[in-house]
Amino acid sequence: MSVSPIGRETARVDGPLKVTGRAPYAADYHPDGLVYGHLILATVGRGTVREMDVSLAEAAPGVLAVYTPFRSIRIINDFAGRGAENYTVLQDTTVRFRGQIIGLVVADTLERARDAAALVTAEYTSTTPRTSLADSGPGTSPGAEQVLAPGVGSIDEALASAPVTITTTVSQHAQHHVAMEPHATTAVWQDDQLTLYCGSQGPQRHASAIAASLGVEPAKVRVIARYTGGGFGSRVPAWNEAKLCAAAARALGRPLKVVLTREQLFTTVGHRSAVRQTVRLGAESDGRLIALSHESDAEMPAVAGWPLMPAEGTSAVLYRTPNIRIDQRLVTLDTPSTWAMRGPGEAPGAFAVETAFDELATRTGIDPVELRLRNYAVREPLGGRRFSSKYLDQCYRVGAMRFGWDRRPRRPRSRTDGDWLIGMGMATAIYQGGRGSSSARVQFRDDGRVTVASGTSDIGTGAWTMLAVAGADALGLPVAAMVPELGDSALPPGGSAAVGSGATASTVPAVQAACRSAVTALIRAAVENPRSPFHGLDPADVRYRQGRVSSGRRSMGFRDLLRAMGVPDVQAVENTEGIDRDGPYAFQSFGAHFCEVRVHRLTGDIRVSRFTSVFDVGTVINARTARSQLIGGIIWGIGGALLESDPIEPDGRYAAANMADYLVPVNADVPAIDVHWLDHPDPQVSEVGARGLGELGNVGSAAAVGNAVFNATGIRVRDLPITLDKLL
Ligand code: MOS
Repeated sequence: MSVSPIGRETARVDGPLKVTGRAPYAADYHPDGLVYGHLILATVGRGTVREMDVSLAEAAPGVLAVYTPFRSIRIINDFAGRGAENYTVLQDTTVRFRGQIIGLVVADTLERARDAAALVTAEYTSTTPRTSLADSGPGTSPGAEQVLAPGVGSIDEALASAPVTITTTVSQHAQHHVAMEPHATTAVWQDDQLTLYCGSQGPQRHASAIAASLGVEPAKVRVIARYTGGGFGSRVPAWNEAKLCAAAARALGRPLKVVLTREQLFTTVGHRSAVRQTVRLGAESDGRLIALSHESDAEMPAVAGWPLMPAEGTSAVLYRTPNIRIDQRLVTLDTPSTWAMRGPGEAPGAFAVETAFDELATRTGIDPVELRLRNYAVREPLGGRRFSSKYLDQCYRVGAMRFGWDRRPRRPRSRTDGDWLIGMGMATAIYQGGRGSSSARVQFRDDGRVTVASGTSDIGTGAWTMLAVAGADALGLPVAAMVPELGDSALPPGGSAAVGSGATASTVPAVQAACRSAVTALIRAAVENPRSPFHGLDPADVRYRQGRVSSGRRSMGFRDLLRAMGVPDVQAVENTEGIDRDGPYAFQSFGAHFCEVRVHRLTGDIRVSRFTSVFDVGTVINARTARSQLIGGIIWGIGGALLESDPIEPDGRYAAANMADYLVPVNADVPAIDVHWLDHPDPQVSEVGARGLGELGNVGSAAAVGNAVFNATGIRVRDLPITLDKLL
């Protein structure tokens, strides 16, 4: 009997390659004749490049080419397709933001390219960029969404009628993806065929975007991204560095590698918009909501990018209320392109609404868990659909029990341990949990192993292992018998990209379908092939079980069968459709975070001392990697609450552009995190019942930290991050 690996602890199949340095990342490819490029970025915030002096650079040793707006290579605007930015790199002299690419130097070594780039000078005509969200008024929105009870004229009227009202305005600066692996591209042309080695969250999308910007057929571009050192949204679009690299490699007739420095990443591959939000709650004195309003003003670069919508994944789906209005506005600024980042709108949105709920709990004297249960939604407040499966109430209760929520200090600033103030806070986690279309190829091989391939990618999340687990489960074989393949745009088209926490929920059903079809194909081959011991039988009399094909008393493993038939492999490809996003159900994953902090009475030093989170995500495919994802998300939340922030200066320069100044949590900032999930397969999402969980841990976790800090200190910090100076 084989035991299904679904939901069990499976070690990463790519782990040994990674920890021994044998997993090649984008910059680890060294084709013959390779040359190196280094980018030049603009040093003014808005204006025009008047001239550039490249003479010293061109005369420097080993330099092969210097591309600038004045001596460019043709790149086509792909914005209408999949581009993130609405201009085209090096096609004009306009500087739209500080840190925009204005040049590329190519030389025979990395060091020579970098040194020559430093010899290029640029003269600008510049004006003051618009950079400050704080100084800007309300942005513009396509229109607010609202539901009002019969007879209620406006949300303001509904709020005014409430016995208790709360107004909370929170703000945060830009945040950056800071994936561990810097973006890098190695472009190799052979005849008119391009192979691009780069990190990618979706190699197939990536290939078509690059093809569009080069003006070649999509089939001429192959993106290989087998190993990707983090993405968090920053590896969804193909950015200008990759387009430039591919175009320059073509122009030079040489393989070219462009690796960005850590500093360059801060302005060239997207960031999370700075955002200011106001949540207004109106409630009965028993805490039941009468009205909820959620307004936001998010940075929207003039060069375009990801529109940050913090309310649609949070306030619009979280609590029952007769009156609700969300207005998500965008403010045009001269900043680098933004992009989706780790629970893109949901993480900031949850900070706003879950902070406001904590304030309502304080005002009404109702326990924060009880307050959320009193406002529990069984339908979307905007939209009105039922949830496919929702056990958030159990998350609250189980989480409270595991954490010891009943020991929470009732009054803020009432518990101490020596000079440390101790506080506890909680918040809700929510993130979309549907699935998209996907495709997979499954191949029985005559070496006794099975290839399980899909055009998705693994950005460190565990997708390699997910393919192996899904295939092993569907075929009744050991995980070790699976040979997963991903991270290659040449794999069956339609693979689910690693975005929106959807890759696993989308890909597992495709693997299951392909496994079923591969079994059917194997049986068909067994009855049709004259060298098969099953030749001539009715396929209905032949069955497959745990790697063996049998009929009556005849039985043979697939490896021996393939060898007997003289066939190297039998395979099948299947595409599966995603759920209908406008269908009858709302698909969301849920959770409840509980956090304890210790704040030093004299220094304001904040230590997160305990964290417990309980999640409702449907079926978990791999307990090991699921736990890592959820813990990672919670760590992001701790970082978002206490560390991650990048203010922008009036000249358009970011205050931080390296990992010494842009702070993310390190081990000393993170306690042991207790992650637990309920086991309720979602019957609507798919046969296996798995919803997404990748970004879920990041949603609400920052609010849980902030609410704990309030409980410890009695100080409500609404401008992130919560740093010690704000507690003194
Ligand atoms: Mo994600 S922020 O959908 O890459």
